Amino acid sequence: MTKKYSRIISTGSYLPDKILTNYDLEKMVDTSHDWIYERTGISQRHIADDNESTVDMAYQASLKSIERSNIDINDIDMIIVATTTPERAFPSTAVLLQNKLEIDDCFAFDINAACTGFIYALDVADKYIKNNSINNILVIGTEKMSSLLDWNDRNTCVLFGDGAGAVILSSSDSPGIISSTIGSNGSYKDLLTVNPVSDFIEMKGNDVFKIAVNTMGKIARETLDANDLKIDQINWLIPHQANSRIINAIAKKLSLPTEKIILTVENHGNTSAASIPLAMDYAFEKGDLKKGNTILLEAFGAGFTWGSTLLKF
Ligand code: ACO
Repeated sequence: MTKKYSRIISTGSYLPDKILTNYDLEKMVDTSHDWIYERTGISQRHIADDNESTVDMAYQASLKSIERSNIDINDIDMIIVATTTPERAFPSTAVLLQNKLEIDDCFAFDINAACTGFIYALDVADKYIKNNSINNILVIGTEKMSSLLDWNDRNTCVLFGDGAGAVILSSSDSPGIISSTIGSNGSYKDLLTVNPVSDFIEMKGNDVFKIAVNTMGKIARETLDANDLKIDQINWLIPHQANSRIINAIAKKLSLPTEKIILTVENHGNTSAASIPLAMDYAFEKGDLKKGNTILLEAFGAGFTWGSTLLKF
């Protein structure tokens, strides 16, 4: 039997129309554009309407990626949605999306690994394809982070945004996903969490910052070493977009020129599980991602969870 790989054949994304700038936030909490921009690199974020859900955003991103893939929508065998902000506790966001896309012959489920959700979803999708059981998988990160924010808490409300990104992962004779690693450690559960009483995000920002930099630096290095790659063989690093200072600190640890990093945090804020597929689609639309490029994706999130994907585009 010939070896089977999984390959991203298309990307798509969606951002809500409403933009909330740092200047808008100045009118809501005791903060300033300069404080936010200097510490996070964020100047604006998109915010979904009250009646716009993670399913609606995922639907728009999915339509784009399906259209660009040139596969028939009914050839999608499986849908995996990474989200921490599902429209309903159940049915899952993935099943609601399946219904909206009107795909009958397919199965669908959600994954919650916080900001690492998209990397977890890709990991699972890759294994289904390599297992020879599935050919086309719609993999999505979609988040309405604004629904978890206390708009009176300047520590958190300035950091996050809403949006969705989608890819089609298909079976292929050539790579594709070269390697994938995921991990978690629940002992950090209280450093970044949604308070079960208030339903708002709470975070020990300084602690999260330090562990995020160390963990993401380490997994990027381990992924390169495990695949006998030098950093200059990577065309693009697409990290989870939490904070430009975290990303720049990782680049420094890896001796990676910042021109090789796809950065969207300035305009998107932290969109959790949606941030990597949103950044991929941004880079694709800009013409930066070329077929054959070697790309390293990596993420870190609440749990803590972490993961990396090394792939040929
Ligand atoms: N505007 C103005 N002042 C603020 C704001 C704000 N929005 N938020 C906090 N402050 C104040 C604090 O109250 C504090 O004031 P004090 O000294 O009088 O008590 C002061 O600024 C300094 O606060 P710190 O928390 O020490 O500021 P720091 O330089 O660490 O920056 C930040 C905070 C941006 C949250 C940083 O810790 C960070 O980026 N952490 C990573 C968190 C993150 O990105 N989380 C996202 C989820 S995890 C992930 O996706 C990887």
